[in-house]
Amino acid sequence: MSELPERVTIYEVGPRDGLQNEDGIVPVEAKAEFIQRLLAAGLPVVEATSFVHPKWVPQLADAGELLERLGETGKDLPVLVPNERGLDRALELGCRHIAIFGSATETFAQRNLNRSLDEQFAMFEPTVTRARDAGLDVRAYVSMCFGDPWEGVVPIPQVVEVGKRLFDLGASQLSLGDTIGVGTAGHVRDLLAAFNAAGLSNDALAVHFHDTYGQALANAYAALQHGITTFDASAGGLGGCPYAESATGNLATEDLVWMLHGLGIDTGVDLGSLVATSRWMADVLGRPSPSRVVQALAGG
Ligand code: HMG
Ligand code: MG
Repeated sequence: MSELPERVTIYEVGPRDGLQNEDGIVPVEAKAEFIQRLLAAGLPVVEATSFVHPKWVPQLADAGELLERLGETGKDLPVLVPNERGLDRALELGCRHIAIFGSATETFAQRNLNRSLDEQFAMFEPTVTRARDAGLDVRAYVSMCFGDPWEGVVPIPQVVEVGKRLFDLGASQLSLGDTIGVGTAGHVRDLLAAFNAAGLSNDALAVHFHDTYGQALANAYAALQHGITTFDASAGGLGGCPYAESATGNLATEDLVWMLHGLGIDTGVDLGSLVATSRWMADVLGRPSPSRVVQALAGG
């Protein structure tokens, strides 16, 4: 086993990836409280919302109002931005971190972005250039890194080509998304090695696992052993993607924290406060959290 890091960064996506997939729309006051509680629990990065088309994701149509409520705090939280229109909205509100989100497959590019695989770059390129010129930090996501519900297993060279192209637009980090949660540990290792061989160091990479097939924590461990130190996760295991059939919740932040702390790895997160937050959000949503650690520590 290779040396494990002393500390990792958890990139919390619950308010965005989690709440974008809820049937109901969570009131903006509850979203703001959720984010504040996550920050108070010690999560270093909390992705707040998305500046996407409100008809495409009505759950996050209140993005502007949410950020206004959060004031100065909100400006430091990353937000998803697909295009220049989204960037304009983020700039008006003083956002300092944005994330673009590309697809490794043709079908998901069409379904999620209404663009072909190639056309997505024409949308992202001016967005990233303008964001960087304005001094913003840009994260890039690449989705469907392991399998795609319409196209099946996605070849590693295809994922690396798209991911590197997105990163090279000017991103500081590339997050590798297992959007539908089909990846397994050996595939994770091979994909990370292929990105390393293409010139992206582990510091430039993050992993973003969904737990559809119960593999998210095992995959996170494989990535940890490989040397990855940024992990996306969602409080209480909320999440999914409204445009990806069969995508379920993300890796639960609590489950990840339990494993990391058990390994003696520092996260800065207070697990008790985090569990209380997910328990509270489960009440807001009216259903129990799927996280095993939340269930064990808080009775669901
Ligand atoms: P489109 O319909 O092709 O947009 O959607 P368009 O460029 O043709 O513009 C049409 C109209 O929409 C125009 O208005 C634009 O101004 C407006 P009109 O002139 O007709 O009045 N418009 C906007 N309005 C507000 N905000 C905007 C915006 N853009 C255009 N940003 C678009 C293209 C990309 C906008 C659309 O497909 C979209 O919003 N997609 C977002 C889908 C989404 O959010 N999916 C979930 C996030 S991705 C994910 O969850 C995966 C991830 O977690 C990683 C993983 O798990 O793999 C990140
Ligand atoms: Mg996701």
